[in-house]
Amino acid sequence: MKREVIVACDFAGKEATLTFLDRFAGVSEKPFVKIGMELFYAAGPDIVREIKARGHKIFLDLKLHDIPNTVKKAMSVLSSLDVDICNLHAAGGIDMMKAAVEGLTRPDGTRPLLIAVTVLTSIDQSRMENELKIEKPLPEVVMQYALNAKAAGLDGVVCSPLEAQKVHDTCGASFLTVTPGIRFAEGAQGDQQRVTTPAKAKEIGSDYIVVGRPVTAAEDPVAAYLKCVKEFAE
Ligand code: C5P
Repeated sequence: MKREVIVACDFAGKEATLTFLDRFAGVSEKPFVKIGMELFYAAGPDIVREIKARGHKIFLDLKLHDIPNTVKKAMSVLSSLDVDICNLHAAGGIDMMKAAVEGLTRPDGTRPLLIAVTVLTSIDQSRMENELKIEKPLPEVVMQYALNAKAAGLDGVVCSPLEAQKVHDTCGASFLTVTPGIRFAEGAQGDQQRVTTPAKAKEIGSDYIVVGRPVTAAEDPVAAYLKCVKEFAE
């Protein structure tokens, strides 16, 4: 499958997002765009339709997590938005994930790719044990959640690039790994702890990288995006 760079458009509103995307007018292949909660809650489903109409693929990163029936109905609404990837929390359980696949599947049998967040990168071993009372090694929990996602019929997981190889070993080469935490070798790390370069992510076997600030905050976002594509996708 084709490796792709997804640009996280973490902007507070429609205008800032569209102004940013206008800069890519001259790029032959329009960037794959991630729309997260902030932008979706601020600008609503219309921002998805508008970006799609401009010819971008879309990863709608809303991380659903509720009872199976509610997630199924919400996914059914999202399926009409014609996004390319959407996601949920694996912590909602296998039945919830199966219901999500059902809700997302359109009458003609097609559906966007559906991936699961395993354990948030903001949760470490001690939080997991002391707050969530899950007393297992964190990597074991991540792999179990990935296996649950696979059992429910999902297409892959969001994970750290450093976990991508293990996810492929555990769940199969065609089970997708979508990996944030990307930084250029010479760039600032920001608040991301476990980071890797686009080139290293390619080497490890990520299928998609999600890149936010190294592109959105760059002096020349188009050049930064093309550098990611060159390092990761070519
Ligand atoms: O700016 P930066 O490259 O750190 O942005 C990464 C993007 O990936 C953000 O939109 C962030 O919410 C998302 N993300 C992440 N770590 C996760 C899951 C999602 O950084 N575990």
